[in-house]
Amino acid sequence: MKKTLKIKSCPQVSDLKIDIDVSASTLNELTKLQHQYGNIFKINSNKNVPSYFINDPTLIKELLVKNHSNYRKGPGFERIKMLLGNGLIVSDGHTWRRARTMIQPTFARQNIHKLIQKMISCSQNRVATWDALIENSQSINITKEMSEFALELILKSIFGEDYKNLVDDNGENPFSFLSKDTTRDLSVVMKMRNLRQTLLSIIMIRRKQRHSEGYDFLTMYLNASDKLGNKFTDIELIDEIITLIVAGYETSAGTLNWAWYLLSTQPDELEKLYQESHPIFEKLNDLNHEAINSMHFTQAVLEETLRLYPPVWLFSRQSTNDDQLGSYEIAVNSNLFLSPYILHRSNEFWDNPNRFNPDRFINRNGAKVVNMAYFPFSLGPRRCLGEYFSFLEMKIHLGYLISKYRIVDSQKNNPKLNLGINLRSNDDIFFTTRT
Ligand code: HEM
Repeated sequence: MKKTLKIKSCPQVSDLKIDIDVSASTLNELTKLQHQYGNIFKINSNKNVPSYFINDPTLIKELLVKNHSNYRKGPGFERIKMLLGNGLIVSDGHTWRRARTMIQPTFARQNIHKLIQKMISCSQNRVATWDALIENSQSINITKEMSEFALELILKSIFGEDYKNLVDDNGENPFSFLSKDTTRDLSVVMKMRNLRQTLLSIIMIRRKQRHSEGYDFLTMYLNASDKLGNKFTDIELIDEIITLIVAGYETSAGTLNWAWYLLSTQPDELEKLYQESHPIFEKLNDLNHEAINSMHFTQAVLEETLRLYPPVWLFSRQSTNDDQLGSYEIAVNSNLFLSPYILHRSNEFWDNPNRFNPDRFINRNGAKVVNMAYFPFSLGPRRCLGEYFSFLEMKIHLGYLISKYRIVDSQKNNPKLNLGINLRSNDDIFFTTRT
């Protein structure tokens, strides 16, 4: 017999007027309200539009997977659109579906494997800087290093051979400002807009070439066509490339920054990671995706880092139809807010949630443990396209450098959070090494 659900309205926090945005005050308010009202509640916020905060894994899955067609991207994405244009992350409806179908094959595993050598060489490129700092008894600014590593890798993955034409005599590329200026305010938006011309010149040259050497994302994007046989226009391509640069670099750089920090404070976990990666990275010439995918402990370290510090810590949707999530009615044009950060640290779903414990992702037989209350890459059709790329890049990076350097924590205090579009550490993180 079909079960009928009794429709409920969710608890309303009526006297409160908070505007939910990416800020520390939003995190504090939502955490407080979640303790008080539970895993779904309604707030009068964001210009009096009904807004819901959802922290229930089943309802989140229903929203992002089963009922996803009743929602578009919500508040906050207009700001991201100013920076990225109308690329995959912000577009909706037909524009998004067409672009996603055209781009998806680029991220097939067998294609991402072609970038493994680049991931190794970008990791090796850190060695000269680190050795020089260590020789002068200086500590390593891991936040800066991770930004430079991840930016270099994504640019080389996108532009392939053309990357060297982008770099000036001082080794700077035109996107370096992204790793130096971590605000995403109007000045960064303007700098990004000025770069559209540079991107257009590269695209024009590429369009004239019959084929380019090697594998890169730009070649794949240029060759992609929709079901009518149409290719991306220049403007669409520029938007998608800017999206890829920003989405593909900030998230991985941030995760690696936190992973190094957590490992530097936990010598036992660091030792386990060393024991796993040392034999693999000793034979660098034999390194392939199978060896990297056998790094189960390193994978668990990264998953645990993403649990504690999900780069996309808050995101939103807006309902385009009346909908029902579980037994709750959601009216058309409502805003919905989800926070991986809050869910990942809920006592209800995780034991000792504030503790860094990679083993929680591996059971006694070494198999992967899946927890429903976990969605650092989102879920459903809009799930991150770069998930596999980022795990390969991060495992290679950590495996290679941890098998070379024995690091020691040199932080005095726990790093504070910087809650922008991405979750960063407020101050740069440093460590030293021992022999
Ligand atoms: C640790 C690394 C990463 C994390 C945690 C992450 C997280 C996310 C999340 C949460 C979304 C969905 C946002 C939403 O639904 O509103 C997303 C979308 C996306 N990500 Fe990532 N990301 C990571 C790395 C990457 C990388 C390396 C790339 C590219 C090389 C990438 C490309 C994209 C793209 C293109 C989308 C849009 C997908 C769509 O809407 O169809 N991401 N990412």
